Parts: sequence; C-alpha cells; structure tokens
Amino acid sequence: MHQTVNVELGERSYDVEIGPDLLAQSGARIAPLLHRPKVAVVTDENVAALHLDALRDGLNAAGIEMSALTLPAGEATKSWPHFERTVEWLLAEKVERRDVVVALGGGVIGDLVGFAAAVLRRGVRFVQIPTSLLAQVDSSVGGKTGINAPQGKNLIGAFHQPSLVLADTSVLGTMSQRDFLSGYGEVVKYGLLGDLDFFEWLEINGSAVSSGDMAARVRAVTRSVQMKADIVARDETEQGDRALLNLGHTFCHALEAATGYSDRLLHGEGVAIGCALAFELSSRLGLCSQEDPSRVRAHLREMGMKTDLADIPGELPGAEPLVDLMSQDKKVVDGQLRFILARGIGQAFVTADVPRDAVLSVLEDALETA
Ligand code: GLY
Repeated sequence: MHQTVNVELGERSYDVEIGPDLLAQSGARIAPLLHRPKVAVVTDENVAALHLDALRDGLNAAGIEMSALTLPAGEATKSWPHFERTVEWLLAEKVERRDVVVALGGGVIGDLVGFAAAVLRRGVRFVQIPTSLLAQVDSSVGGKTGINAPQGKNLIGAFHQPSLVLADTSVLGTMSQRDFLSGYGEVVKYGLLGDLDFFEWLEINGSAVSSGDMAARVRAVTRSVQMKADIVARDETEQGDRALLNLGHTFCHALEAATGYSDRLLHGEGVAIGCALAFELSSRLGLCSQEDPSRVRAHLREMGMKTDLADIPGELPGAEPLVDLMSQDKKVVDGQLRFILARGIGQAFVTADVPRDAVLSVLEDALETA
C-alpha cells in the first residue's frame, strides 16, 4: 500500500513516502541519510503524547538514538521565542552540519523546525514527519518554512527543502473529525485546481477517505502530494505557477483575519469556503459554468464541511472590510490583488485582472444568505 512521490529539484530532490505504519519503519527509512546513528526530534505536547514513543521505537529498531524537544501545541509556537528555544536546544544537543533534524507534528512544527534547520550552522538537513492531513498534503512538501510576525502570518522564513518526508497515514486515525475535514479542504483544492478526474474520484470516495479507509486515504494523500510536487518542481520559489496552490486562499485569509485566527474557522475550513467563493466569482465573470460552483459546494456539503459564510459561527464584517482584509494579503503585488480563478473544475489559473466590484458583489450575496 506504500507509495513514493519524488519531488524533482535537481540535487535537492527528495522522496515523500506515504502509507500506514511508517513511524515503525522510520529508522530504516532515515538511516541512509545519517552519518552517525543519532537524530534530534522536535515535536509538540499533543503529538508527543500520541506518537513520540512509536517514533523512538521505530528509530531504535534501526539502532538510531533520539533526543527530543517538546514544545507547546498551537499556532503561538510559530514565533521568535520558540524559534530561539529550538535553535538553542539543537546547538545544546550538539547537532552538527552533517546531522539530521526531525520535525514530528503538524504544520506549526514543520514550519518552525524547517526554519530552524535552514539557519542552524547555515543549514542542516531535516526530515518532515507530518502528523496531520493538512501537513501531509501541503505544508510538509515544498520547502516553505518560517514563523509568524506580529505584523502577519509566515512573514519570516526561508525556502529550505526537507531531505525526506514520511507521511504515515495510520497517524491520521488519531485526528479529530473536524481537524481531518479541515485538511480535506486542501485535498479537494488539488482536484479543483488541476485534476477533474481526482475531484470526481473524491465525489465518489470522499466518505471512504473521511471514515478511515486506509487505501482511500493513501490514494488521496498520494495524488495531492504528486500534484504539489509537480507544481513545486516547476516553480519552487513561487514566481508563477506555485500560486495555483493558493486557490481559495485569498478569501480564506480575509476570513481567518476577520475571525481572529480563532477556532471559529480552521485554515482548511477557510480554504474550502474560499474555493467555493472562487468558483462563484469565476462563474460570475463568465469563466466557468454556473453548475461548477454548485457542484463544488454540493461535495463539501456532502462531506459535512463548512461551505458557506453562514457556516462560520458569530458575526462577520461586511463585504468592504473583507475586501480590505484581502488587500493586506502578502500575495499582493504592486497593490494588485492576485486571484486564482477557474475556467472549470480542474482548470485554475492565476490573474491580477479581477474587478473589485465583482469580488464585492460575490461577498455581499454570500453575506446576505449568512
Ligand atoms: N501552501 C502553499 C505552498 O506551499 O506554496
């Protein structure tokens, strides 16, 4: 059932291994990267309680020793104080230039530890072991690392590709259904942006993916990672095509800011609603058929996901303030908001040519039904 996706980046190419029970096999899979049988692992409290012993056993089985730093769980950890603590711990552990650092956790840990590895001794290698669906299909692949600044999310960081990613699909069984479905928002995004067949497969098999069918989970993660790997290989540093991965994200970032980055709206939930809005906007601009946004929303609804603005609990600001929040998105270039729109399901493209009034009217109508 195991799959391997190669991220093709010349001498920085690496494999993403996908399948069940990879923690148990971690030692054998990481050993070829090591100059000495020792790794430094950084994780968070929640993940440590669930998976750190399994990782230790997997490493020990191949004669690899492990030391571990456990940070608090949550977005607040992606900050200077925890970054400083991590770098200093890695130095105290005497991690050398040829050693390997392991990030065991979700997107917060992967981004923070990847950034620490990027700057430690001017760059050491690291292995991502993503433990959430969102991290497996998105943040662990592609080398974006970093922390948040008081001025905004992910504003401090570096491109630093991992040397290996181990996406153990068994660990997804410990996620809450809400967190799992939030990650599924990013899975659907891949079908919507570039693969109609995959979207159609998800329409049929999404409930199997959600209910824990391992073969379905492996297939969904593998196709998502393959699509991300292809895009990253074409455009590692986001000069063009990589922006396609931000389908739904311009709306999402405004909604996350409007809800204070709280658990009123998880990132992947915002992506799902954002994808529905991006298709609505595309349809109103005459780019795709009117059926497409309905079909997107029907699938999200069937999966039990947030689909409309009405599904976000509490008050939302009006359409104008939401568009203003979009204008603060870091993807703005020369004051021009870039959108990912679609000519149909699986046919997304990047454009800066979107009239503000069209965005306003989509949001006004969406808020009216909220
Ligand atoms: N999560 C978007 C990217 O990696 O480019």
